[in-house]
Amino acid sequence: MADSPNCDLKSLSPLQLFERVTEQGEKVRALKAGKAPKDEIEAAVRMLLSLKLLYKTTTGQDYQAGLPPRDLVLINNGTSKEEDEDFVDPWTVQTSNAKGVDYDKLIVRFGSSKIDTDLINRIERATGQKPHRFLRRGIFFSHRDMDQILDAYENKKSFYLYTGRGPSSQAMHVGHLIPFIFTKWLQEVFDVPLVVQLTDDEKYLWKDLTIEKSYEYARENAKDIIACGFDINKTFIFSDLDYLGTSTGFYKNIVKVQKHVTFNQVKGIFGFTDSDCIGKISFPAIQAAPSFSSSFPQIFNGKDNIQCLIPCAIDQDPYFRMTRDVAPRIGQPKPALLHSVFFPALQGAQTKMSASDPNSSIFLTDTPKQIKTKINKHAFSGGRDTVEEHRKYGGNCDVDVSFMYLTFFLEDDDRLEQLKQAYTSGELLTGELKKVLIETLQPLIAAHQERRKQVTDEMVKQFMTPRKLAFEF
Ligand code: TRP
Repeated sequence: MADSPNCDLKSLSPLQLFERVTEQGEKVRALKAGKAPKDEIEAAVRMLLSLKLLYKTTTGQDYQAGLPPRDLVLINNGTSKEEDEDFVDPWTVQTSNAKGVDYDKLIVRFGSSKIDTDLINRIERATGQKPHRFLRRGIFFSHRDMDQILDAYENKKSFYLYTGRGPSSQAMHVGHLIPFIFTKWLQEVFDVPLVVQLTDDEKYLWKDLTIEKSYEYARENAKDIIACGFDINKTFIFSDLDYLGTSTGFYKNIVKVQKHVTFNQVKGIFGFTDSDCIGKISFPAIQAAPSFSSSFPQIFNGKDNIQCLIPCAIDQDPYFRMTRDVAPRIGQPKPALLHSVFFPALQGAQTKMSASDPNSSIFLTDTPKQIKTKINKHAFSGGRDTVEEHRKYGGNCDVDVSFMYLTFFLEDDDRLEQLKQAYTSGELLTGELKKVLIETLQPLIAAHQERRKQVTDEMVKQFMTPRKLAFEF
């Protein structure tokens, strides 16, 4: 047996290395328990120590049993000592700060990169288009490998977009539109194919829903997605329950990912426990698979090397950290990512909205009157208690939900800046700010409802039919 980690070990990813240390630890325990010869135990212990050392030099962290390398782990994860840490995973977003999650800290903890002015300027140069307000205002704030996408694009190499939605209910709210509004813009300015995954399987596994119901929600949600204006010739929307069984490429990728991720790893990344059903445990492979072009042979002519760009809210990052770790080991390019902040609940930026609480957000089905009442009644205000105090001290835009919503939806930069100054100085009252938001959202939602009405079952069927898109590969 080798006494020190050999060269092969040096080429392991941090996660694989973590696995090796864990395995070796188990081996040492087994040898000791089995009362193996002393020199055999000592050799195994030496190996364990050198593996731990290699782990430390590779990741900069001490090996801790049950705790995979930090950039692959959910932040906090119950191990952090700091009490005011934010908690973010695909199911929970929690912060004690009224301004919302500290996104700069999140970038450091997740090990992603900030979308800075240089990158935004570069996107502008590459596309010849004014950057979307979500970029200008830091709503898409973090990325992985976006510069690589731009390098390739500038060299006339195409890529494709992948995003998705978990159809947990019929009711979608304005926050759910954020990734789709942005993805539509990306599709337009880069002129690339888009695949949209509807994870009806995921919602069946996680929620108290029948298969039939979640499948039905997927089709209903598809209408809202289509109503965002995607090009039918360039977009493939699929329900997992439908597409997985029919595709010749998709399931192969699922199995490849499954072979390269252990139970220990998903426990570390997603916090699964021994009592979670095996459907949940293997689900991350299903969300990973669309990151590989070979999952869509009909679109990419069987090519497996077309790079993927995933716009999503930052809470989906754990899935794609896992995907990026696996990609090189199954001979596929790592997907690039663009991360958005969370859309705040009407009650404040401390938590993500819930589709089950009708007052926590503006729904795409709300009437103009409901929009008005909800904002006036429930939108958390950064204004002062009395008009006199407000005039004297001014309001706080950092915690004011109406102002936050306007940064998402008011297109005019100058107007937004004027509102900010007027509110901060006390010149503009909360009621007046709310009125601006109401007048911004009412026509926007009405227009969405109008477009959604135009979406026929026939169109849904077309978008959801596996087919070649308007691109040659
Ligand atoms: N899991 C996501 C949700 O619950 C849905 C999803 C699947 C997704 N694939 C994606 C989101 C890719 C963003 C990007 O909403």
